[in-house]
Amino acid sequence: MAVISVALADRPYEVRVQPGLLSRVAEECGSRLRKQRVPIITDANVHAAWGAKVEASLLAAGHEAAWRILPPGEQTKCWLELSATVDWLLAEEVDRNDHILALGGGVIGDLTGFAASILKRGCNFIQLPTTLLAQVDSSVGGKTAINTAAGKNLVGAFHQPSLVLADPDALGTLPEREVAAGYAEVVKYGLLGDAEFFAWCEANGTKLLAGDSPTREYAVAASVTAKARIVAEDERETTGARALLNLGHTFGHALEAQTGFSSRLLHGEGVAMGMVLAARYSVRRGLMAEAEASRIAAHFAETGLPYELADLGLNCTGQSLASHMLHDKKMDAGTLPFLLMRRIGEAFLAKDVELADVSAFLDNELRG
Ligand code: NAD
Ligand code: GLY
Repeated sequence: MAVISVALADRPYEVRVQPGLLSRVAEECGSRLRKQRVPIITDANVHAAWGAKVEASLLAAGHEAAWRILPPGEQTKCWLELSATVDWLLAEEVDRNDHILALGGGVIGDLTGFAASILKRGCNFIQLPTTLLAQVDSSVGGKTAINTAAGKNLVGAFHQPSLVLADPDALGTLPEREVAAGYAEVVKYGLLGDAEFFAWCEANGTKLLAGDSPTREYAVAASVTAKARIVAEDERETTGARALLNLGHTFGHALEAQTGFSSRLLHGEGVAMGMVLAARYSVRRGLMAEAEASRIAAHFAETGLPYELADLGLNCTGQSLASHMLHDKKMDAGTLPFLLMRRIGEAFLAKDVELADVSAFLDNELRG
């Protein structure tokens, strides 16, 4: 089993990665489960696929699962579900020292983490991530949030889990498109800081997507190792290190906004396209060689992820895409820090990017 420590000074925690962990949830959580009833929040798809396995583990250890089963989908990350979930946790008499389990993808992890952060001014939670995106990104690092009418993830808190159990077997029931979307976040770690890992992705990406278990386990452990190092260095995204994790996200977020945050473009798909755009924009600025950007696009082409903006059929202008960026939560006093690249494995935060130039660049890309 890979055990990765998120080495935060006052509250370090482990991310354990191994096939079969969901069958051993109670054992792995050990004395963190202090009471007979264990509150566990999930969505209906995940409950159907993995609920029985997790419940069997809890039962075998003398516990009873208190399930809260939410509707699947991004719309669940809202005030209404948050407040109903907090009321439910209060009715379950969850105390500060108890641990709430979050079984699901990023939606469940973000909502549960936020509920845990405000319940009785903060109680514990454990992440049991069941999507590739959640295993390699959202379950680690303590960002929690809900969406509001004004935008995505605009209300939330930094609240670290006490433990993360990532079981790559969980990906066996995940739709292929969701696996591919999560894979974009795996590639991100190579692009932002580890050229060798990007080369590993080139060699192994198709095998991972085809379901090869050791490849999935390696990718999750390597990604978490990269993220844990960055989070330990810059937990609250204040020094710039953690901002690197947003590579491709500013372009990607604009594309998601343009497509109405719908199933037309999943988050990871937007990030893949966004990373290609960040690379091509870096080429336009004379920062990166064109061959490097082409290599990135070729890998996404090979793994079935978006890599040509003109192919998305957006029917919009560069300016309309750039205007979504004005609402980005990274906007700071009227400027938008942008992640650009010098080469594969070296991203950096640029603070001199003009939205008008981005808009002209996007017009070119939209024309193909
Ligand atoms: P998700 O949680 O909506 O899951 C995707 C779909 O897969 C859902 O329909 C879900 O029911 C289903 N599903 C999940 N696991 C399954 C399994 N094992 N088998 C079958 N079906 C399964 O989406 P996601 O991509 O995991 O997460 C996206 C969310 O994560 C967004 O809200 C995003 O803002 C957030 N996010 C947060 C962070 C962070 O640092 N907190 C980072 C990245 C993304
Ligand atoms: N997903 C970006 C971060 O955790 O900072």
